[in-house]
Amino acid sequence: MKSKGMAGCLNHAMIDNVQAKAAQAVADHFGEPGFDDITKAYIDQRYEGYSEENQETWRTLFDRQMGYLDEHASETYLAGARAIRLVREHIPYLDGTKSINHFLRQLTGWQSKAVPGYLPAKSFFACLARREFPTTVVIRAKEDIDYLPEPDIFHDIFGHVPLHADPTFADFLQTYGKAALLTDDPFHTERLARLFWFTVEFGLIREGGRVKLYGSGLISSPGESRHALASPDVDRRPFEMERVCDTAFEIDHFQPILYVLDSFEQLKDAMNSYAQRLLSSRAGTGSMQPAAS
Ligand SMILES: [Fe+2]
Repeated sequence: MKSKGMAGCLNHAMIDNVQAKAAQAVADHFGEPGFDDITKAYIDQRYEGYSEENQETWRTLFDRQMGYLDEHASETYLAGARAIRLVREHIPYLDGTKSINHFLRQLTGWQSKAVPGYLPAKSFFACLARREFPTTVVIRAKEDIDYLPEPDIFHDIFGHVPLHADPTFADFLQTYGKAALLTDDPFHTERLARLFWFTVEFGLIREGGRVKLYGSGLISSPGESRHALASPDVDRRPFEMERVCDTAFEIDHFQPILYVLDSFEQLKDAMNSYAQRLLSSRAGTGSMQPAAS
């Protein structure tokens, strides 16, 4: 296992600057006095920092996964990828008229915001509550193409962002962020982490009688995606909110348990119910509302 600071994992030169260090400090201290504006954790993409080798890495990752996904990913994911103009030719732009954000804004109002690195949980939830997705801008090194110790732009954008173009998933994710930001109860914090894991990161969905991929950890990983659909060792269970929240997950090997949605409406409705329960348990103290349906 490599550690975060080891050379050769990600192109860290892109985030080795004063702006990124200041933004990371905001993310690390968010919620403390003087650190209440999460947008100060955002940075510029600094697109010129990508090398030709970085661009080649993007094309390689895109090419070896998109052909498989055409057959095996949720139609909602594929339609979203087309809608935000996700292409093999270049690492996505976050700003400007050719950016994924340009198209996302018109579809659901979600935006992807560049961040300098790992965000603590509350900072991450604060972004989601604003319909903003904190996005790693750096990309893994060519020599580490199959080894990803931490998210990079391929995982964060290729894996996550196409679903943000879908109005139902978009509302679900914002409500999730609001609920997770609101709760300080460790019991619910753990349950919400499990929900995120088994849906946003590793979710499956039934479409046209077939099980398809939508979780970013599956979408962005050739090994994990094929294992998720084909391995006889995977227990694929129908999505049921309470059961998902009761299921512990493991992070260092292929997932032995996955949950299969019937529809994204099912996920949104279950999240809205959970959020309402959290809200009523804090009656008089919270101001959270689920995203508009
Ligand atoms: Fe992720």
